[in-house]
Amino acid sequence: MTVRRFYLFLVLWICTLIDVETQRDSGWWECQRPTFDNGYIVPRREMYEHGSTVQYGCNPTYKPIMEPWWGEMTCRNGVWSQTPSCIDQKQCGPPPIVPHAKPLVSQETYDDGLKLRFLCERGYSSGYTIYATCENGRWTSPKYNCRAQGRPCLSPPPQVKYAVITSPYQSEYAEDSKVVYECVRPYKIDGTKESWCREGKWVSTPRGCRKYGCDVKQEIYSTYNVQDLPSAVFVAEGESHLFYCKQGFRWYNHTSRDYQDIAEGQCKNEHMIYPTCDYFG
Ligand SMILES: *[C@@H]1O[C@H](CO)[C@@H](O)[C@H](O)[C@H]1NC(C)=O
Repeated sequence: MTVRRFYLFLVLWICTLIDVETQRDSGWWECQRPTFDNGYIVPRREMYEHGSTVQYGCNPTYKPIMEPWWGEMTCRNGVWSQTPSCIDQKQCGPPPIVPHAKPLVSQETYDDGLKLRFLCERGYSSGYTIYATCENGRWTSPKYNCRAQGRPCLSPPPQVKYAVITSPYQSEYAEDSKVVYECVRPYKIDGTKESWCREGKWVSTPRGCRKYGCDVKQEIYSTYNVQDLPSAVFVAEGESHLFYCKQGFRWYNHTSRDYQDIAEGQCKNEHMIYPTCDYFG
């Protein structure tokens, strides 16, 4: 008796295991018929297989919340792809989308005749009140929209001699946007290198481009024993300039550790550092 009971138990237990395994292997679970008010499902069954698609409709004077007059859903792993919902035909579902705005009240359904107000997001504004009305189950489309706050600059940034702007030209610059100026060498920006668009105007523009370097005049540099230059030259900041030593003088090149006829000077902090040629006999 106890042995037979044990075998019966064993067989039942194995059957349960096999059942669970087959369900897991095929990877499907059934869906139950969804229960919802004021609507119906086609085809109507108690259980639906994984992957089966059903349609739903709403009773007279009702409509699906999203779709025009019928909806569809699919059973996936025991869960329906959407929740059916039938609402009063005169009610409205989700409100229309207004860019950069949010409805003042957020509900699943809105009653007939309701005037829903929209508020612009931060940084956006509209000169008018934006609203949509639920009229007999349909939303009216909102008339106005939200625009970025502040006035854009419609004119190009002011021109600066010997300068360019490091970004491409735009026909319109948004409020609070900036441009950056850069001068051609040997010029450098004097003052701020940026200009900002504020309230439709360009503010804090550069004073201009200033020539940055050393003026080397045409004269005999007796102290340095270098020759007269053919003409005055301008040496850009940080750059070097070559001079000829006077007859009988030579310049010591610290790199090559040798004396040579050509001497090198450099413009540093707008100050020319002249080379000195030594007497060579
Ligand atoms: C000094 O010597 C270096 C190394 O030989 C050379 O590259 C450089 O051009 C020299 N300077 C001048 C002013 O000739």
